[in-house]
Amino acid sequence: MRIPLIAGNWKMNTTVAEAVNLVHSILDRLDKIEGVEKLLCPPFVSLFTMKELLKGSSIKLGAQNMYFKTKGAYTGEISPLMLSELCEFVILGHSERRGYFGETDEIVNRKVKAALVNNLKPIVCIGETPEDNETGRAEEVLYRQLNQSLNDIEPIQDIVIAYEPIWAIGTGKAASGEQSAVTIDFIRNTMTKLWGKRISQDLRILYGGSVTSHNIAEFISQPEIDGALVGGSSLKPKDFLDITNQAATIKVPHTSTHLRTKE
Ligand code: PGA
Repeated sequence: MRIPLIAGNWKMNTTVAEAVNLVHSILDRLDKIEGVEKLLCPPFVSLFTMKELLKGSSIKLGAQNMYFKTKGAYTGEISPLMLSELCEFVILGHSERRGYFGETDEIVNRKVKAALVNNLKPIVCIGETPEDNETGRAEEVLYRQLNQSLNDIEPIQDIVIAYEPIWAIGTGKAASGEQSAVTIDFIRNTMTKLWGKRISQDLRILYGGSVTSHNIAEFISQPEIDGALVGGSSLKPKDFLDITNQAATIKVPHTSTHLRTKE
């Protein structure tokens, strides 16, 4: 059974005071939405406060990045061990980290391994550039990102994959539901090759890139798409609530094939 996931990636937005206000404005209504997993990923500095605010609610907490070492002389970095006291999820390999901070698939791979060792659930982001897309190399790039970012990792259901075409992030130009379902199908087939059918059927694969309350239905109604990683719209209380509500109404949790058919 793949429980749909709606995750808000606040990126480098909100001071602690603003984060508190934002949570207060959605907490009660978001908490009550059933049938989808709800996740907020604020900046590091707000994690502790947010953990306290979300205590006893059904809303999960995640970080947006981490280093792969547990502790030591790495000035300015945050370790998976530190995060494990504060949150359940961590976004890794976001295209903004790859693009602005030089994260390679190899670095992402070390981070995914470190997150799992520390009981954090990684949301591994992959996605092609506009050039990859125009030159027909999207699938090749996605295959490489999956193969290398997940290299030497025991198949595990706790990983979430987020497909975020770079040309769709923060641009207002979302992929179409159909287009992204085809790509997500390719991603699941790739995971079947890498990790086998049983686990791949249970992995959650999200779409991300300019998701709004106006287009969420298009994505969430695709059986292959298990939710969304939402950037800009997650900072707008009404929009994020609306997106999550629509996901909960439209989405019937996907039952994996091996559960439906007796093997
Ligand atoms: P966006 O960002 O929704 O603002 O396009 C999505 C993301 O980067 O995760």
